[in-house]
Amino acid sequence: MSILKKLLWALLALIVLLAIVLVGLLSFGPLSIASIKAILNVAIGYSVEAPAASTVAERLKVPAGFSVGRYAEGLPKVRFIEVSRGGDLLAVLSRDGQLVLLKRDANGDARHDGQELILDGLKGPNDLEFYRDWLYIAETNAVGRLPFDQERGVATGPYQRIITELPDSGNHRSKSIRIYQGKLLLSIGSTCNVCIEQDKRRATIMSYDLDGKNGQIYAAGLRNSVGLDVAPWDNQVYATDNGRDLLGDDYPVCELNKIERGKSYGWPYINGFGDLDPDFGAGQEARQQSDVQPVFGFKAHNAPLGIRFIRRAHMPEGFERSALVALHGSWNRSKADGYKVVSLHWAEDGSISSWDFLSGFELNEDVIGRPVDIAEGQDGCVYISDDYAGSIYRVCYQQAQNTLVDLAAKKIEDKQFASLSTEELRVGIAEGEALYQQYPCASCHLFNGEGEAGGKTLDGLSSRYSMAQLANYFLSPNAPMPAYPLDIAKRRALAIYLLAE
Ligand code: HEC
Repeated sequence: MSILKKLLWALLALIVLLAIVLVGLLSFGPLSIASIKAILNVAIGYSVEAPAASTVAERLKVPAGFSVGRYAEGLPKVRFIEVSRGGDLLAVLSRDGQLVLLKRDANGDARHDGQELILDGLKGPNDLEFYRDWLYIAETNAVGRLPFDQERGVATGPYQRIITELPDSGNHRSKSIRIYQGKLLLSIGSTCNVCIEQDKRRATIMSYDLDGKNGQIYAAGLRNSVGLDVAPWDNQVYATDNGRDLLGDDYPVCELNKIERGKSYGWPYINGFGDLDPDFGAGQEARQQSDVQPVFGFKAHNAPLGIRFIRRAHMPEGFERSALVALHGSWNRSKADGYKVVSLHWAEDGSISSWDFLSGFELNEDVIGRPVDIAEGQDGCVYISDDYAGSIYRVCYQQAQNTLVDLAAKKIEDKQFASLSTEELRVGIAEGEALYQQYPCASCHLFNGEGEAGGKTLDGLSSRYSMAQLANYFLSPNAPMPAYPLDIAKRRALAIYLLAE
């Protein structure tokens, strides 16, 4: 950057800061240091150094049985992340306009095995998603797709923009995407805190064909829905939404909405659970009934961004119907709040409770990270991006960070797996492990350090069984072991898992 450009940025930053401080002071008193830094983070990309490992160990908290470590740093303004089938992590860097790949941790040292630049010259990329042989990317003014080989971790053709000329003026420029029932859903935030939009595409989720054609408004009245995901149990789209500012520390809630085609979600007329907005609510009473209310309210100003339903990550009991949500943290609040990842848990009756999952990024107004997005790895762990210190964290259940080794990469040399590719082995291990969790195997067996201490241990199976023999064993196991209704693919996966561990 030239000196002149830097000076202009600094000047702009100062003006933005002064304006916001002034508005803040006028509306509800003093802003905290953390708030001012958070404003600068969003306005001009202010960031901090990644914290020392000792700080991470001291400050970051995970639930009992989990471990956390930093997997990568030096990724300025890293936003959304995805893990490929091959276990590589792909991330977009919004300020630098880049898509980068972090090679999977094959040597088990709890760090990625090297960074590669895949794409450059993107405009403010925020989100990405794999679909079939494509990697879709959401820029501020466009959506494009890159043909990508997930196993090899390489682009196989040029990047093509399939939606262009998206509105990106004013606030909330970042775009988010999810592919759902053969359509591309695209979230476009509002231009403002609260206003009537001129461009009807603002404050909506749009839907497009997968080639970018046939754009239509899918759902409206969404101020800024940055995270969308599909729940595995009801196949419905859920999206986070950031509530409006300047109505005090604790009002209104940020939202989780169940997104349905053709529905409207209130903004700018209705806040939270059906309250009329003080600026735009007058005369809009009918919307208190007609507009859809959130399924869950996050605390005001917590700024929920990425949401990820747990599908394959290794999780303890209680996480059966759950999602992780990244709370970026408040700026429009006298005391900092948010700055953590929470897990949402759906009960049988549909009610949702929230637990802390990864917290400690903010302590007495000192902020060392702002969570943005969550991705599930092929290793059973979840990955979390932080655009404040440009880092990626990894959280694993019942695995210490430095003992996580990619089993498939190590075991592929074993004779018994000669008929499998590394990818088949990796998928087999993952599916077998999931089945092992799903059936009550651990109630009678001690395996891999888990299960009934008095039960039959399943170590050393590979000296007595081939893959095919073990897969057959499950058809008619010796009593008292029950026979389960497992098809050949499931029996094979269980065999692969038990033989590889
Ligand atoms: C009700 C208790 C129980 C459950 C549940 C159970 N097992 Fe077993 N399993 C046993 C017993 C007991 C044996 C030993 C039978 C024998 O004496 O040969 C056994 C044997 C085995 C063996 C053969 C071990 C060897 O050394 O030859 C395997 C493999 C195995 N079980 C896997 C599983 C898996 C996988 C599951 C879950 C899908 C499971 N078991 C569920 C009780 C159970």
